[in-house]
Order: sequence, then structure tokens, then C-alpha cells
Amino acid sequence: MKNRFIPLVSIFSILSFTACNDSKEAGDLALAETSQENAIFEGKPLSMEYEEEITNLISQMTLEEKAGMLHGTSMFATSGVPRLGIPELTMADGPLGIREEISRDSWAPAGWDNDFATYLPAGAGLSATWNPQLAYTFGDVIGAEARDRNKDVLLAPAFNIIRTPLGGRTYEYFSEDPFLNIQITVPYIVGVQENDVAVSVKHYAANNQETNRGTVDVQMDERTLREIYLPAFEAAIKDAHAYTVMGAYNKFRGDYLNENEYMLQDVLRDEWGFKGIVISDWAAIHSTVKALKAGADVEMGTPGPFNEFYFADPLIAAVKSGELSEEEVDKHVRRVLRLMYNIKSIDTTGRAKGSRNTEQHLKDAYNIASESVVLLKNDKNMLPLNLEGVKSITVIGDNATKKNALGGFGAGVKTKLEVTPLEGLKNRLPESIKITHAPGYLERYSKTDKAKFGDITLDGPVTINELDPKLLEEAVNAAKNSDVAIIFAGSNRDYETEASDRASLDLPFGQEELIEKVMQANPNTIVVMIAGAPFDIENIEQQTSTLVWSWFNGSEGGNALADVLLGKVNPSGKLPWTMPKDLKDSPAHANNSFPGDEVATYDEGILVGYRWFDTKNIEPLYPFGYGLSYTDFEFANVKADKKEAYKADETIQVSVDVKNTGEFDGKEVVQLYVSKSDSKVERAAQELKGFKKEMIAKGETKTVTIDVPVRDLAYYNMNSGQWTVEPGAYTLKLGNSSRNLKQEVVIEIQ
Ligand code: BGC
Repeated sequence: MKNRFIPLVSIFSILSFTACNDSKEAGDLALAETSQENAIFEGKPLSMEYEEEITNLISQMTLEEKAGMLHGTSMFATSGVPRLGIPELTMADGPLGIREEISRDSWAPAGWDNDFATYLPAGAGLSATWNPQLAYTFGDVIGAEARDRNKDVLLAPAFNIIRTPLGGRTYEYFSEDPFLNIQITVPYIVGVQENDVAVSVKHYAANNQETNRGTVDVQMDERTLREIYLPAFEAAIKDAHAYTVMGAYNKFRGDYLNENEYMLQDVLRDEWGFKGIVISDWAAIHSTVKALKAGADVEMGTPGPFNEFYFADPLIAAVKSGELSEEEVDKHVRRVLRLMYNIKSIDTTGRAKGSRNTEQHLKDAYNIASESVVLLKNDKNMLPLNLEGVKSITVIGDNATKKNALGGFGAGVKTKLEVTPLEGLKNRLPESIKITHAPGYLERYSKTDKAKFGDITLDGPVTINELDPKLLEEAVNAAKNSDVAIIFAGSNRDYETEASDRASLDLPFGQEELIEKVMQANPNTIVVMIAGAPFDIENIEQQTSTLVWSWFNGSEGGNALADVLLGKVNPSGKLPWTMPKDLKDSPAHANNSFPGDEVATYDEGILVGYRWFDTKNIEPLYPFGYGLSYTDFEFANVKADKKEAYKADETIQVSVDVKNTGEFDGKEVVQLYVSKSDSKVERAAQELKGFKKEMIAKGETKTVTIDVPVRDLAYYNMNSGQWTVEPGAYTLKLGNSSRNLKQEVVIEIQ
């Protein structure tokens, strides 16, 4: 077993405090260096010990060979220099597991028969576990599979902040909250890179919508950038030591991300100390000299002619004409070679071998899936399903049999196994119970819709939302004649997809009508939603007693879901984003700043996600952090470890007794939110600053301790350009969702 845990000592150090200056309020502490804490995983920095060998190699290379290392000369690789022992740099998507092999010169699958991989739960499912250890496991599995497929760079994790619930890639990303984002991102990266595979953290940065993603110019103030959109990238570089960064499609403050000196040089390299390479998103480079000088290193893209890429023939021409110096080119080649030495692709002695499609990887996929399922409502205690006296179960819905490893626009996984919800139930229910499947609704699209049929388009899929009367009748009758009905509804990866945002939060394909009619036909109906992003389920929520949320949940998703429904697993997933009642309640929609046109101005500023709902007192349908269990937990005796005021370099240790008062063992996520009601600056009503997931046996009480470094209470002071901790009182609130805070303690900062 590899070195999984770094003991919980703070891995950050405050380098220095700057004295108060004019631009900030007297008494504030300005921190020269900050971090969003609680990471217990630490990556290995890129070693600089190979620089001499690198100089030597570069001195022997022709300009053409150098250019070959700086751009894709096939779909997912750059050229090597075989005569000098330099291999290609090979890459693979992506978030759900290692993507099938793509042809070298087109997007068509290469047609291999040995490129299967384990399908892992999509990002939203992973983050819904609120379990950093499982994020490490995820990274370790996908890293080992990448290595086994002979890949050097994994184009993941993807963790842009979920600014709008409509975002086409919400299912792929982690959260609306920067703290949770960090806690999932850092261990994931550490897990991957321990396999001698580099991550490419994406999409750097402010790539929060698919609409106009190739052109939109994102504008926001510096505080919003620092507090909301950058923290997970910062932690990815400073704590996890991500070796590569993917430059996003969009513009930021007027410049494309891959030509953005502020983002690539000032922030990424000068402030954060990044020593790795910036790889462009596919076809996201728009110039040669400007992009290279700003800090982009490798241009990747869609099918050739590859020699026409900006970093190919035009780069050679720019050097020849004197527009670009060869030293500039060498700087980028040096970074690529440095990466190669670090992941042992040049000298392969001792390089990890990797493994793929193993029993252990399936178990890991199962464990992640089983902790991700969120129990939203269980008013009649129908769950866990009591099988006593149950002779028949009707399983309804296209999502009972829908597979999501592949689908939509973007990277999927060719997997040997994807257990659907129906198969999961069949695997787990005793044979004595009769299972009937009635689809009820079908995934249907208008014939003119191109996205569904594989063409590249930025328009989302156009759905047909009427039910087929025959299918409806069949489902209603089957429900009527069964003891229990379980509806698997929601969405899928054809509908939620990269390259387009959704047009609305409505459930597609006529599902709402189906669910209502089935619930009327059989009061013992359980509604299970499978989706990666919020939907408008308010009507359904009002009518059903029993509501469960699951995700595009990997190879073992169906088994994990069945185990939750049948009580083998006590649900412990929590929503990683807010489920609004109405789209207009969400910040980017309330202020009408989505999707923008040429420019998208993030008018809501720091009030993203629950920060907006809580500050503006808007009731969500389900709050951030919400999720029930089959047992109950009581919180008592919250305490901070000190009565006196804390200093800026100290850590506040908060403890709370959590008692499992119900009938089942279970895991609870203890969440800690911080408020500063008398702040001199704008603040969200509360912000997540710590959490811990704990297994607590029935009847047992555990004291759960959460560490909050004082520096994590800082806000970004735009006047001084520094993280600043205001002195005075802060309220720390503990509970199990952002709207169910049961205990609080007030602490003082000096
Ligand atoms: C996506 C990236 C992906 C790349 C290569 C782009 O369209 O935005 O996330 O890694 O394609 O498949």
C-alpha cells in the first residue's frame, strides 16, 4: 500500500504577516500567504533535479523537434524525439474513467478491443460522498488505469465551480462551494500522480458555462475570483502539486485563457510557484507568440493538419523571422521534459505499472457510488424497503435500464460492466419477488436535433416531452398491480452534456406526468432520480413521500443503489450544490447575468450557490449539504478548544458530540459553517469551513473534532491584494446541512 495519509498537521505555513497598511481597516491581519485548509493529503512537488540533463537534451534538438513537442501531432499526443530517447507525451480523458482509444487523426474511436476501463462515478457523485479518502481512492484507481493504458497525462480532474444549475458539465464537476471543491480535488490529484501519471486540472479558469464557451469573456472582481473560482486550482498547485493545467476555452478579462498573462504567469507561476506545463483545451489556442509568451506550453486540438497548429509551422516561422526567440521555445520544451522525467517516461526505471479492470477497482467504484446516494425524503419510512409480505415490485422508467458510461458530447468510458438500477435490483432481491419492468417514458429527441446524433453543436438536445399513451398505461397498470413501484427518472448523459447548457430545469421526456400518475396508482411508490445536476422537482417533491437522488454512478452504480434502497447501505451522501425551487432563485439567473453574450459578468460576486440563498433568505427546495440517513443523529456539547482569543497563526479546534439515536449504524457528515455578522466587508451569511464524515454505530456517541485554521477565516482584500482576517467575534455553526445547523459556538480572533 502506498503512503496514503499525511498526518493531520497543517501542511501550510504562513510565510509572513504584513503590517497594516493604509488600504485596509486598522486591526485587520493581512496574510501574505493563504490556503484553504483541512487538506490531509499532500502531493509530491515536481523535482528540479533533472535540469542539467534537460539542458543537454535541448542543446541537441532541432527547432522542428522542439516544435513537435509543443503541439499535438495526433489527437492525444505530442511528438517525441526518438533519436534522443524522448517519447511522445500521451494523454487521455477523463473524468469518468480512461476514455477509449481515439484514432490518431480523427475523433473516431480507434476500434481497439483492449481499451476497456472501469467506469467511475461522475464528479457530482464523487463530491456527494463528502469523503476525501474516497476522492483519493478515485484518483488512485483512475491513475492506475491510465498508467496501464500507457498514458502520461490524465485530462482530469474537472472542477469548475457550479455557477448555474443549467451548466452542461455540472455532472462532471464537483461543487458550488470552494471548500468542498478543495477537499475532493486535492486527494484525487495525489491519488493519480502517485501512479507516475500527471493530472491536468481543468478548466483553468472561470469556465462555468458551455454556452459560447469558445468566445465568452468572463468578468468578475478580484475578490470573487480569489474566494470562489480559484481556491481549488490554488490548492491543486500548492498542496497537491498538480503537474499540468488545462487552459480553458473562454476569455478572462479580455484575453483568452491561453493568452492570459495574468492568469498563466502572474497567478499560476509567480504566485503559486507552478513548475509544470499548461496544456490548452482542444483547439483553445488562438495565436503563436502571444500564447507562448503568456505561458501556454502545449497546444492540443481537433484533427489536423497538425502542422498548421499555432505551435507547429507558425512557431517555426516565427523563430525564423525573429518574432520569437529560440530561448522562449526552449523554456517550454524544458517544462515538458521536466514533466517527463518526473513521471518517469524518459527513464522508465521504477515507473508504476498500473492495473485496469480489476476486482479491486470495481470494489472501489462500488464504495464511492454507495456513499454518494442522497436520501432526500423518507416521510413514511418506506426505506429501507421492508420486503416482508412484498411479492411484486414494478420498476418504471427509462433510467432503470439506461447506461451512462458513454453518451452525449465529450469523454466517456468503454466499460466491460455497467450495472443498471434494474440489474442491481435483480441482483439483490430474492427470487421470490416478481419484478416487472415498464419503461413508462423513453428518452426521445426531435429528429432535427444534431447533438443527439453525434454532430458537434452548441445547441442542447431538443427533447420530445410527450409520453407514449401505451407506455404510460402499461406503467400505471403495472404499478397498480404491484405491492411496490420504484420509478427511476431524471436525466442521462445524452441530455446533460458538454458543449451545451440546458435550456431549463424541467424534467424532459414527459416524466413529471408519468411520476404523478404512477404515484396516484400506487401509494407505495419510491421515486429515484438519476442525474448530475439540479432539476425542477418541486411538484414531485410535494406529492411523493419517498425521494432518492443518485448520479451517473459508475460500473457498480446499480448495485450500490439497490443496496441503499434495501438497507444494506445506510445512505450518507449530501448534495454538493443547492437544489433551487425555481431557476430564478439561483444567483446567476436572479441577476440575469447568464449566459451573457460576448461578455458574461458575474454580478452576484462572491454570493454563489448557498451563499446567495442564505444571504438573501431564499428557501431552496433542498439546501447545500443536505441528505438524510436511515438513522438520526443528535448534536450536543459544541466546544472550541480555547476561551481566549485566537491568534492568526493558530488553529481553532471545534468539537461536538454526535449521537446516533436511531436503529441503524450510519455515517454522518458534520458540517461547520462560519458567520461574521458584524463584518466591515460584504460577507455571505455563512461559509463552509470544515466538515468530517464519521461512522457512528447505533446508540454510540462520538466526539467529532474539526480544525479550522484562523487564516481560513480570511477574506480577500481587494485594496491591499492580500488575504485578511478581521479581528473580533465569529460564529461557528455545526450541523448536517447548510440549513440544519444545530449547535453554535462564538470564538474571538485577536
Ligand atoms: C474538453 C476537455 C477535454 C478535451 C479532450 C474538450 O472538448 O473541454 O475537457 O479534455 O476536449 O477531449
